[in-house]
Amino acid sequence: MSVVVVLSILLFLFSTVESADEFAVDSIVHRRPQLAGLCAQILQPLGYPCSEHTVQTKDGYILGLQRVSSSSGLRYQKGPPVLLLHGLFMAGDAWFMDSMNQSLGFMLADHDFDVWVGNVRGTRWSHGHIFLSEKDKEFWDWSWQELALYDLAAMIHYVNSVTNSKVFTVGHSQGTIMSLAAFTQPEIVKMVEAASLLCPISYLDHITAQFPLRLVKMRLDEVILALGIHELNFKSNMLTGLIDMVCDGHMDCNDLLTSVTGKNCCFNNSRVDIYLEYEPHPSSSKNLNHLFQMIRKGTFAKYDYGKLKNMKKYGQLKPPVFDLSHIPDSLPLWMGYGGLDALADVNDVEHTLKELQSKPELLYLENYAHLDFLLSVRANEDVYDHMIRFFKSLGKVSSS
Ligand SMILES: *[C@@H]1O[C@H](CO)[C@@H](O)[C@H](O)[C@H]1NC(C)=O
Ligand SMILES: *[C@@H]1O[C@H](CO)[C@@H](O)[C@H](O)[C@H]1NC(C)=O
Repeated sequence: MSVVVVLSILLFLFSTVESADEFAVDSIVHRRPQLAGLCAQILQPLGYPCSEHTVQTKDGYILGLQRVSSSSGLRYQKGPPVLLLHGLFMAGDAWFMDSMNQSLGFMLADHDFDVWVGNVRGTRWSHGHIFLSEKDKEFWDWSWQELALYDLAAMIHYVNSVTNSKVFTVGHSQGTIMSLAAFTQPEIVKMVEAASLLCPISYLDHITAQFPLRLVKMRLDEVILALGIHELNFKSNMLTGLIDMVCDGHMDCNDLLTSVTGKNCCFNNSRVDIYLEYEPHPSSSKNLNHLFQMIRKGTFAKYDYGKLKNMKKYGQLKPPVFDLSHIPDSLPLWMGYGGLDALADVNDVEHTLKELQSKPELLYLENYAHLDFLLSVRANEDVYDHMIRFFKSLGKVSSS
């Protein structure tokens, strides 16, 4: 692998730049119609009561949130709220991709949790910005730092005030970066009852994933920003074409997935078409750049603008770090991580654990990789039953 892949990506990037206007039309056509929300598309057809909500962030983004409850409509009392925080290039649909007794979103609802499905800015379930358009480069001027400090803060504040209750959270991958960064902030963490982190990430300097590492080495993140590409949308025609080409012609798609996430033990290949109907969702080039900075520098810190601009933005040469020891000892934490995860590497997870004041409850699965925690056909028994038991053990959930 492969120079071909890398070259194709570069080709793709150059070609979008040249034909940006043409693509605007294409990508509207390509986009799923916004008429039906996540509730109408996935939850309601399966009998789950679901309502659509919107939340505005401090910096003007309008996020979509869905509230889901048990499919057996006999329950009088809703359990405590749990907010789901999806990973990079994903959105709230990620929690409902397998069958009802395999996917965490359905399972939590059926265990009487009051499930709130988060969707960060830029995803297809979010609703733009109060005055910016998705065509403006300013619309994409953010990284996981804003997802933590603005999006997570706004979503949790909304759930907290609607339910009048502290909120359980579950994050996967980028959702854990957001969680760990946000929980260092007293005004956010005070609204959290307890948190579960799947593939927890704060440090990224031990990742072993070959494909991302190659892109980091090529400085692809800096290249695309220099080219003026601010939105990363893998559903644009060109990139779909590229993925098809890579999958059909030059390498097995499973190999590509493995080289990004590690070797997933329990991935259901016959569901790939269903996954691809929803995933991937767009994100920003600046977000990729921030993640690559973490890989290069080994820090868990705010976005690095370079010395001069850091001085202006932060009043110091280096970006301020998110200090994990500021997460209160009293916050109950549960973490699931895997021996074959090429993104949330065991060494990095141990680094995170060393800096926390508290001792999280841990579930280590030797044969699990990054996507297994979301999509394994056995994640219900291997992972989610343990997590739900942990939440229930905290005494805020009536057993049923
Ligand atoms: C879901 O669980 C039920 C009962 O445990 C089982 O009969 C059924 O086969 C399961 N469905 C799937 C798709 O795993
Ligand atoms: C894999 O996906 C197919 C297609 O949706 C489904 O019929 C099958 O039950 C799934 N296998 C497992 C083990 O969940």
